[in-house]
Amino acid sequence: MNYQTLKLVSFSPTGTTEAILNAIAQGFNPGDLITIDITRPKQRSQPLLLATDDILLIGVPVYMGRVPEVIGPWLKTLHATNTPTICVVVYGNRVYDDALLELRDIIIGNGCLPIAAGAFIGEHSFSSSETPIAADRPNPSDLALAESFGRKIKDKLLTHPNPDRNCLISPPGQIPYRGETTLWDVDFIAVSPACNNCQRCSSICPTAAINPQDSRQIDHKKCITCCACIKKCPTQARSIKPGPVHDAANRLHTNFKAPKQPELFY
Ligand SMILES: Cc1cc2nc3c(=O)[nH]c(=O)nc-3n(C[C@H](O)[C@H](O)[C@H](O)COP(=O)(O)O)c2cc1C
Repeated sequence: MNYQTLKLVSFSPTGTTEAILNAIAQGFNPGDLITIDITRPKQRSQPLLLATDDILLIGVPVYMGRVPEVIGPWLKTLHATNTPTICVVVYGNRVYDDALLELRDIIIGNGCLPIAAGAFIGEHSFSSSETPIAADRPNPSDLALAESFGRKIKDKLLTHPNPDRNCLISPPGQIPYRGETTLWDVDFIAVSPACNNCQRCSSICPTAAINPQDSRQIDHKKCITCCACIKKCPTQARSIKPGPVHDAANRLHTNFKAPKQPELFY
């Protein structure tokens, strides 16, 4: 098969998953690259049909050891016919549990052939300057590894131009999947007087949980605690207030200092 196009699908509220996927795509160096960013709700309204000469590169962050539930409905719209696929999860230096296995299983159900997979490390969503958690990740060495991973996958496809089920990768994990799909319903964001209601936060929120007219108003039922609004605020007006998310950030900062290394399967 003469593969024409790499379709890069990313859900990446704080940008670490996106950075890893871009590095893999750079190493793969496809003829054509089409980026499909499903981070914002509007972007998840379009289904994805893959052609037989496409390659899919899909990446998500790990939430509570799982694939984020918020993208579940969109994933069901993805249809492929034996499309070679690279699955990636990015986690905040705690654990990825069975998330990579779960992502692999979901996309096999959609007709994809997962021929490679990777678990990479990104700065934890709850990381801050007071409680940094994997704050420098992905670092240059993570990105160099991701790029060389892309090159190796291309070589694998040149050696096996017509992959079949014998090429499927088996990432670690168990069924039933561990972890949690239900996220916290919590009022955890403090907004300081530095907020000038510029609407940046509401425009990037992956679940449209922030009122564009008044960014202090957050729908906690919709919020997935991704912290994109905190990290991307141009005036640093948003922070994690004392409470369960703050406590979790403290625990993660204390207990997961030792840097974990990416794991690759191909
Ligand atoms: C609700 C939630 C749950 C998370 N659960 C985990 C986890 O189980 N293990 C882990 O190591 N990191 C966890 N993280 C951290 C993210 O996986 C990590 O920060 C990732 O790099 C974020 O990706 P992004 O930059 O593409 O948004 C969690 C983050 C959030 C917001």
